[in-house]
Amino acid sequence: MGQPKPTPHKSATAIPDEILAVPLGDRSYDIVLGTGLLSQLGARLRPLLPGKQVAIVTNTTVAPRYLEAVETALRQHGFVTLAIVLPDGEAYKDWPHLQILFDALIQHCFERSATLLALGGGVVGDMTGFAAATFLRGVPFVQVPTTLLSQVDASVGGKTGINHPLGKNLIGAFYQPRQVIIDVDTLTTLPQRERLAGMAEVIKYGIIWDAAFFAHLEQGVEGILDLEHRLLIDTICTCTTIKAAIVSGDERETAGGPRALLNLGHTFGHAIETLAGYGHWLHGEAVAIGMVMAADLSQQLNLCRASDVARIRQLLTRCGLPVKAPDFPVDHYLDAMARDKKVMDGALRLVLINSIGQASIHRAVPMDRLRQSIQRHLNPPEGGL
Ligand code: NAD
Ligand code: GLY
Repeated sequence: MGQPKPTPHKSATAIPDEILAVPLGDRSYDIVLGTGLLSQLGARLRPLLPGKQVAIVTNTTVAPRYLEAVETALRQHGFVTLAIVLPDGEAYKDWPHLQILFDALIQHCFERSATLLALGGGVVGDMTGFAAATFLRGVPFVQVPTTLLSQVDASVGGKTGINHPLGKNLIGAFYQPRQVIIDVDTLTTLPQRERLAGMAEVIKYGIIWDAAFFAHLEQGVEGILDLEHRLLIDTICTCTTIKAAIVSGDERETAGGPRALLNLGHTFGHAIETLAGYGHWLHGEAVAIGMVMAADLSQQLNLCRASDVARIRQLLTRCGLPVKAPDFPVDHYLDAMARDKKVMDGALRLVLINSIGQASIHRAVPMDRLRQSIQRHLNPPEGGL
């Protein structure tokens, strides 16, 4: 049941300061990856953008660190900038704060040729992208991701949106950026807990796609966590290369296409985020727990080996990530999971693991097996799972 894998456009050992292509016809764009890129934003974007107005959307944590550098870099090249600084947090990835963004754009007479630039993590990126998809029926949009999680995943591929109180990311649009500019220098100010959360999505690529990358992480994940420059660039490059290949083969996550594999652990993880209240668990932490729950279920269904589950659990644990689900009633998990975007004709579709490096979508996991698996995860047998 493994999915056909599109050929990545770069090898896993790519060198620093890379430009990777995301080929999507007239929506194609580049991912630029390197250091010192914030100061080059104006020069890079000038030939790419149709107008001079740029709204820089960011938040109260990122703005004091990087907003001035971004404004200066853009103004030096003739752009007229407007900063829109939102409150920081997953809890604000919602309709009222999207409205604040639109209010600012309309009050400042932003036109169709204006660009929205997302400066921040996945929350800012998802909201900005959705605003760009809908403002004046669509304006250009640029991603400048500043967290590890958004650099390896959220900024690439054009999934944009906001949360609903009943479920994560339920309102949104597919809308591709004009460019993704990843300045790894920004990671030096990222708190350790956020770095670790980003590692969950890094590890995900190894589990769903690339067994050799997973083994490589097992050999020296600590170097990446310490932000060893070369290792960090290579890691982000590998992840974005895989993501670009998957997205260019299945932009809109079609039934049976490979993009859904990127949701490994997310159906469980989104349920955890929703049940606990947005912001209690970081997205990457919830995904880490969700990947272990998906791996446990895969083993229960005899799809993968116990040793695969153990390796996944061990690597996540070495990264300081949680692997045990919070204790909500099983029915609450099932209700939250039933509202997942992957539900089709009323049936839950889950990403499960065949082996490390290979995952597949399953449409017919019996409800009693899913219930038992969550129950077992919450109350492990003597001696652990
Ligand atoms: P986030 O955007 O909340 O950022 C994490 C924290 O780091 C925030 O407090 C932020 O202010 C802070 N921060 C950002 N950059 C910083 C820096 N350089 N220095 C110091 N602090 C910094 O969280 P995230 O983990 O980046 O993204 C999670 C979000 O992304 C979730 O909403 C998730 O649903 C979404 N997501 C989207 C996709 C997609 O394909 N669109 C993929 C994965 C996740
Ligand atoms: N993060 C999942 C996707 O982009 O499809």
